[in-house]
Amino acid sequence: MNHPRIKGIRYQRTFCMVKPDGVMRGLTGEIIKRIEKVGLKIVGLKMITATKEQIIKHYPMSDQAWVDRLGDKGLSTFSDLSLDPVEFMGTADRSKIGKMVTGALVKYMTSGPVVIMMVEGIQAIDMVRKLAGHTLPFKADMGTIRGDFSVDSPAVANVEGRSIHNLFHASENEVEAASELKLWFNNDVKDIHTYDRSEEGVMYSAVMYKE
Ligand code: TYD
Repeated sequence: MNHPRIKGIRYQRTFCMVKPDGVMRGLTGEIIKRIEKVGLKIVGLKMITATKEQIIKHYPMSDQAWVDRLGDKGLSTFSDLSLDPVEFMGTADRSKIGKMVTGALVKYMTSGPVVIMMVEGIQAIDMVRKLAGHTLPFKADMGTIRGDFSVDSPAVANVEGRSIHNLFHASENEVEAASELKLWFNNDVKDIHTYDRSEEGVMYSAVMYKE
């Protein structure tokens, strides 16, 4: 347990956010409940209204590879549905579509208050991603936040010039979690809390085993 890598996994921290549609639909409590129910610990929590600058920093929008990946992710739905992206979006260029998506994403993410969280626990990054479900609501499994409470597709959202409304964000990996936690919580000790969850003894202690 004292090995730094294992300690890092045991007390891993991730960033997640209830997006404006989640807050406006009154789903903040439901989402928090799901995070807490698995045994993960919320160590930071705030409601804020994000600025355009914060969202541009949050998503690596100046990274062309990231923008292209976003374009590809949206385009894949068009090819799955045998739709010609040129007919519906005026282009099949992944960079152009990625750029359109980022523009819509900034507007969506600044359209109302969001609830930001720092969540801690064993492999918290993968756990919270699993709770979130697939980016595209029509692909998100039932039982996940996005699967249970949203319905949307790039085939409609991109054509309507809006972002996919998928309720919730969660960091994808350790690099993303570190940069997103730094951006939103800035290692500010007054916003990061330490406490014991009452069930920790049962969930993580070997002392309870009878001889
Ligand atoms: P992404 O980083 O690919 O997914 P995730 O949020 O699961 O990490 O995408 C960022 C956000 O961009 C995503 O949550 C919703 C939005 N988006 C669209 O609005 N349209 C699209 O076609 C895609 C692919 C994403």
